[in-house]
Amino acid sequence: MAAAAAMPCFADDIRIEHLSPNHTFVRVKGDDKLMILPIQESIEDAKINVLVNGKLERTFFARLAKSKTDYTVPFDLSPYKGKDVILDVVSTQGRASVREAQDDACWSEMTLSDNFDTTNREKYRPLYHHTPSYGWMNDPNGMFYKDGVWHLYYQWNPYGSKWQNMTWGHSSSKDLVNWEHHPAAILPNGIGTVFSGSSAIDRENSTGFGENSVVAMYTSAGDSQTQSLAVSHDNGETFEIYPANPVLTLDSEARDPNMFWNPQTKEWTMVLAHALDHEMLIFSSPDMKSWTLQSAFGKGLGAQKGVWECPDLFQLPVEGSDEKKWVLICNINPDGPFGGSGIQYFTGDFDGKFFTPDTDSNGKVATKWLDFGKDNYALVSWSDAPEGRRTAIGWMSNWQYAADVPTMQYRSANTLPLEVTLFKGTDGDYYASTVPSPELTKLRDKLIVNTRKTGVGTKGKNFSLPTANDGVCEIELTIDPKKAKSVNLTLSNADGEEVVMTYNPAEATFSFNRKKSGIVDFSKDFPATTVAPTFGTSRKLTLRIFIDRSSIEIFGNDGRFAMTNLVFPNSPYSHLSVSSAGGNAEISNLKIYSIATDSSNK
Ligand code: FRU
Repeated sequence: MAAAAAMPCFADDIRIEHLSPNHTFVRVKGDDKLMILPIQESIEDAKINVLVNGKLERTFFARLAKSKTDYTVPFDLSPYKGKDVILDVVSTQGRASVREAQDDACWSEMTLSDNFDTTNREKYRPLYHHTPSYGWMNDPNGMFYKDGVWHLYYQWNPYGSKWQNMTWGHSSSKDLVNWEHHPAAILPNGIGTVFSGSSAIDRENSTGFGENSVVAMYTSAGDSQTQSLAVSHDNGETFEIYPANPVLTLDSEARDPNMFWNPQTKEWTMVLAHALDHEMLIFSSPDMKSWTLQSAFGKGLGAQKGVWECPDLFQLPVEGSDEKKWVLICNINPDGPFGGSGIQYFTGDFDGKFFTPDTDSNGKVATKWLDFGKDNYALVSWSDAPEGRRTAIGWMSNWQYAADVPTMQYRSANTLPLEVTLFKGTDGDYYASTVPSPELTKLRDKLIVNTRKTGVGTKGKNFSLPTANDGVCEIELTIDPKKAKSVNLTLSNADGEEVVMTYNPAEATFSFNRKKSGIVDFSKDFPATTVAPTFGTSRKLTLRIFIDRSSIEIFGNDGRFAMTNLVFPNSPYSHLSVSSAGGNAEISNLKIYSIATDSSNK
């Protein structure tokens, strides 16, 4: 079969040479062009070594199409202008012959292009939530605020819509509503791919990288997980990887460093997830380069069965008092409140070295969750947010099925930006609450429904949701259950699909059933009912419900409970029905706003 291998095949200026059944050279000249790679999701990743003038420049993985192309991804040739580029493709298809390899769709469909079309093609892409322009996204991380701009980095695969090639993608916003996409900020290097981390502004030049430089600390995920630094001198647009990396190694899996300048100790504090040991490690450093272990927190506390990931640590005032408390966020997966991923947190005190958790009235450290849905994970906050704000954002998915949700061009969105505050519950313990950032009221377009004082009973009252923009909307509702045993809120569409939410005032719970919400069969873990404690101070319930094309976020009782769930209805929910059982209830306020944005996700 040597004759077949030697016969090059041309597409544009691309030359394909099959060296052996599972090994192909794709030759191209470096230019101001993108090479468009055809991807088939069900195919295993091929390993692609990028050889430039014969030297190995980098390696990435992509599911190059075999029988059909689901979508394409761009590979940028501009860094290699004028040079000979070879994509040295090692396939895992286990082909028997070169003839078989030649039949793969990818070879004839690879093209060169001046641009890559990111126009939205997906019916489920949210209208007003942050999504990557294409490709897979998980954890938001490394976020900082500087000079009026909110920078958001995220775990990104630029070469496909499943997890791989971890890179820091970058978006920014001036208003937390409209997001602009930037080129990738930190790319994998020889030490590893770029896992989650954090960024901080080095005001005092403690690192020697320069006053006010933005320093990112992240996990280099290679053969081991080690901690690395990268520095930006252009406000987070581009980062230079610190040549002396890694700055911290441990002999067991540890990742997602979250660091901040601690004015108490005049040093950097860093929390690192000691993932498989189900604990967080707390370090300190004068310069971010040498770290001293101060303590470990969490063994045996809270939910323990999952891997501990993505920490965050910050101090907040307790609502209505002069007291301040620290919040330690410990995302865990699996073992979240409804299976899979969840945001666990502890409140307590922190002296710069040790985190001491609060105990409840029984002297126990309670397990606390920041969100009572299935789809808010890896939530962390912006560093340096203005006006003492603790603004945070989560990944709106769950590792149980994130790679299987019915989208392709992109996969996963982030939650709305949220403001975290602290309150003292009626049980005397401290809890975190989250509400959408105030900027988000800007999304409200038309007031479609505005109802005051309406009684509801078993028959229920029906309200139309907006028709614009696939029915995306914000619902504001205050309901007094009076003597009713339960209040039901049902979202329904023309396809007979529904989401049923139930408030049980006696138990002080609010539940969300998405078992018949639309497409649910892509994972056994997707159809589910999630339940939140309402943390109410009376039987009255207030809700803000944000519906986007494939998500519902609920903030109850001024954010004292939050619930984020994905939904994939075949057609948009068009109606909300409110009913009660065991007595009449009273709606004291119901407002439904349509939502409009300048977003490109139309
Ligand atoms: C959490 C996580 C992190 C890790 C990243 C890799 O979702 O597993 O611990 O840094 O994703 O993408």
